[in-house]
Amino acid sequence: MIVIHYQKGKALIESVALSDLAEQYGTPLFVYSADFLLGQCDRIKKAFSSHPTTICFAMKANSNEELLRQMVSQGLGMDVVSGGELKRALHVGTPAKKIVFSGVGKTASEIELGIGREIFSFNVESVAELDLIGEISKRLGKHVSVSLRINPNISVKTNPYIATGLYRTKFGFPENQIPDAVATLKKWPRLKLVGLSCHLGSQIRSTQVYQQATTRLLHIAEKLKASGFVLSHLDLGGGFGVAYKQEANPEIEAYAQSIQKALAKTPYQLMIEPGRWLVAECGILLSRVLFTKENPHKRFVIVDAAMTELIRPALYEAYHPIEPCLKRTGAKRVVDVVGPVCETADFLGLKRSMSPLQSGDLIWIGYAGAYGFSMASNYNLRPRPAEVLVQGAQGKLIRTRESL
Ligand code: LLP
Repeated sequence: MIVIHYQKGKALIESVALSDLAEQYGTPLFVYSADFLLGQCDRIKKAFSSHPTTICFAMKANSNEELLRQMVSQGLGMDVVSGGELKRALHVGTPAKKIVFSGVGKTASEIELGIGREIFSFNVESVAELDLIGEISKRLGKHVSVSLRINPNISVKTNPYIATGLYRTKFGFPENQIPDAVATLKKWPRLKLVGLSCHLGSQIRSTQVYQQATTRLLHIAEKLKASGFVLSHLDLGGGFGVAYKQEANPEIEAYAQSIQKALAKTPYQLMIEPGRWLVAECGILLSRVLFTKENPHKRFVIVDAAMTELIRPALYEAYHPIEPCLKRTGAKRVVDVVGPVCETADFLGLKRSMSPLQSGDLIWIGYAGAYGFSMASNYNLRPRPAEVLVQGAQGKLIRTRESL
C-alpha cells in the first residue's frame, strides 16, 4: 500500500491527488505509479543478480502497452500465452530472443507466429503439442527451440484455482512421461530441447517450494544430459506472492535466494516469469460512491467499479484493501463495498470497517495492478475503464476509456 500516501487527509499517488485524476479522467479508473514499477524492476533484477537470469514478465498480469514498454526498457523479456500477447510483446519492442510462449493449448497459427518470429522458446506441455510444433517446423523448414514444462506435483498453499503444479491440474508433463517426450523429440530433427520449465502456481507465499522445484528440475536436467540432451536453462515460472493484507510475506530477495542457492555451481541459466509481484502493488482502482443503502442485515456502499474491473474478489474471494480518498472523521462502520453488476458475487470487499462514506465520495482499491484490467470485461455491457500512469506530478492517459 506504499503506492498511496495521505497529505492533509487527501490520498496521493506520487505527488498527484487521486481526486484530481478522478476529476480529469472520470471513474472507475486504473492508476499506476511509474516510479513504483521501475523500483520493482530494479529490485527484482538485483535480487536475481547472483546467477545469470532472464526475467520474463508474465503479460497476463497486465498487458497495458505503456507499462510493458517501461518494463522492456528495463531489460525484461515477456512470457506470453496467446497469439495476442505474442503480437503485443513484439509490438512494444520486446526482443524475440526474450520471449517465451507458455500455455497448455497453443493453436497451429499461434505456433507459426512464434516460429516465424524466432522467439526464444516454446514451453511445451504435452506430446501432442510437441508433435504439432514438430510438424510445423518441418513444413516451414525452421529450427525451433522448445522447453518441457514439468508438472512437479508439488503442493502450494494458495487458492486452488491458481495452483498449477499438482497432477490434478492440466499443466505440464509428469516426470514419468519424459521418456515419451524424448522419443517424440527424436522424431522431429528441427526441434531443439533447450530447457525445462515449471510454474507451481500463483500468489505463493513460501520460498521452500521454489527450492524443491529447482532441485526437481535439476535432477531431470541431469537425467536428460545422460541421454544426450544438454540444456541451457531452467525456468522456474512466476508465482511470487504479495501481501494484500499487509501480512508477513517473503521478500523477493528470499524467493531469489532459495532458487539461486539450489542452482549455484550448475551450468544452467535461470529464467523466471513473474507477473503479480512486478505490477500488483503499483496500481490502484479508483472508484466513486454512487449510493449507500442498508437493510435489516447489512449496510452497502455501492460504487461505480465492479467485478467487470476487478473480478478477483468474486472469482477467488480475494482480499483487496479499500480506503476512502478523503478520510472523514466519524465512527467507522462495517459495510459491504459492492458494484452495480447484477450478481451477488459482484463485491469488491465484504464486512469492511470504513470511515463514513456518502454518494460522490472517492475510494481506492489497492493491489489492483495485477489481474485487474487484464481480466476486465464488458459484462452487463459496461465499457472498460481508462488507465493512467503517474510519474512525479504528471498523470498520463495510457488507455482511453471505452465508449458506448
Ligand atoms: N508463468 C505461467 C506459466 C503462469 O501460468 C503464470 C500465471 C505466471 C507465470 C505468472 O504468475 P504470477 O507471478 O503472476 O503469480 N488471475 C489470477 C492469477 C492467475 C495466474 C495464472 N498464471 C489472480 O488474479 O490471482
